[in-house]
Amino acid sequence: MRAIVQTGYGSPDVLELRDIDRPVPGDDGVLVKVRAASVNAGDWHITRGRPLAIHLIEGLRRPKNPIRGMDAAGIVEAVGRNVTRFGPGDEVVGMYGGTFAEYVCGKERHFVPKPAGLTFEQAAAVPVAGETALQGLRDKGGIRPKQKVLVNGASGGVGTFAVQIAKALGAEVTGVCSPGNVDLIRSIGADRVIDYTREDFTRDGHRYDLLFDVAGNRPFSECKRVLNPDGTLVLAGQSGRRTPSILPLLMAPVVSRFGRQKRIAFIANHKNEDLAFLMDLMLARKVTPVIDRRFPLHEVPEAVRYVGQGHPRGKVVITLD
Ligand SMILES: NC(=O)c1ccc[n+]([C@@H]2O[C@H](COP(=O)([O-])OP(=O)(O)OC[C@H]3O[C@@H](n4cnc5c(N)ncnc54)[C@H](OP(=O)(O)O)[C@@H]3O)[C@@H](O)[C@H]2O)c1
Repeated sequence: MRAIVQTGYGSPDVLELRDIDRPVPGDDGVLVKVRAASVNAGDWHITRGRPLAIHLIEGLRRPKNPIRGMDAAGIVEAVGRNVTRFGPGDEVVGMYGGTFAEYVCGKERHFVPKPAGLTFEQAAAVPVAGETALQGLRDKGGIRPKQKVLVNGASGGVGTFAVQIAKALGAEVTGVCSPGNVDLIRSIGADRVIDYTREDFTRDGHRYDLLFDVAGNRPFSECKRVLNPDGTLVLAGQSGRRTPSILPLLMAPVVSRFGRQKRIAFIANHKNEDLAFLMDLMLARKVTPVIDRRFPLHEVPEAVRYVGQGHPRGKVVITLD
């Protein structure tokens, strides 16, 4: 099969299209023919091997799993004998390492059924970014209806899901983005949009119950002044810096308390029930993935480079025939 193989750490030129053996599912395995995958900021970080801790986690000289890609939607090709929930021909979506390939082999727990009403591209855009937004807002942030929520970094993969999920859960949402994305963020439901080149959200006098920070470019000392006295800052990432600090990883899931205010750094965990919940929100048209650009499999290096520039409008999707 054709797959994008990472040969070392560095620029996206270390990602090569190669012919490799198709994986064979074991007794618990689910082999999926990938129809679409999506690119995450994590693919860029692992490609570069930055921060350096990635070498310790993924492999010293190159990643132990050399195939990049984390999200996929496709059709089950074969299953192991212990697999009961899926069979050949089923359409699925899920999260597993190595999805920039014609086939990926995971386990039952990595996939959920893809609703017939959604395209493979829409479904593939969801797992990492959608689950991060959902878990950050709901599980870490404890979002409640009518709360005032600010999403810093609203226009990227995680942010475009966060704005829509926060609205779907009944919050009043403000999104922070660059000037070219103001209309986009308004169109996906934000009640108020702040162009970060014109306004500083930490100094405009507004207060929030929950600040979901995907950009991670402002210190807590500045964010804390826009939090209500019992407000929470949930830190998901550091988009503003192309070489992210390892600090949020080390702190996860540390909760720091400052009086009644809280700061929570976290790493999302794949949960099938969360992915299924997101599929339901999409079927109910409460969430629609924002797809910026599509690239074929052989152009994954360009797709990863594009995401690495730090300004995708929503998700970048890889399409396979
Ligand atoms: N904790 C976790 O489990 C987890 C999971 C997934 C991702 N992440 C991390 O979360 C971060 C975002 O991921 P992503 O997939 O959303 O990335 P992305 O798709 O690359 O989006 C990044 C967004 O950041 C925005 N941005 C850049 N500079 C900004 C600034 N100064 N102020 C406000 N927004 C700014 C950009 O919007 P404009 O173009 O409008 O500037 C861009 O759309 C990354 O650091 C990633 O590693 C963490």
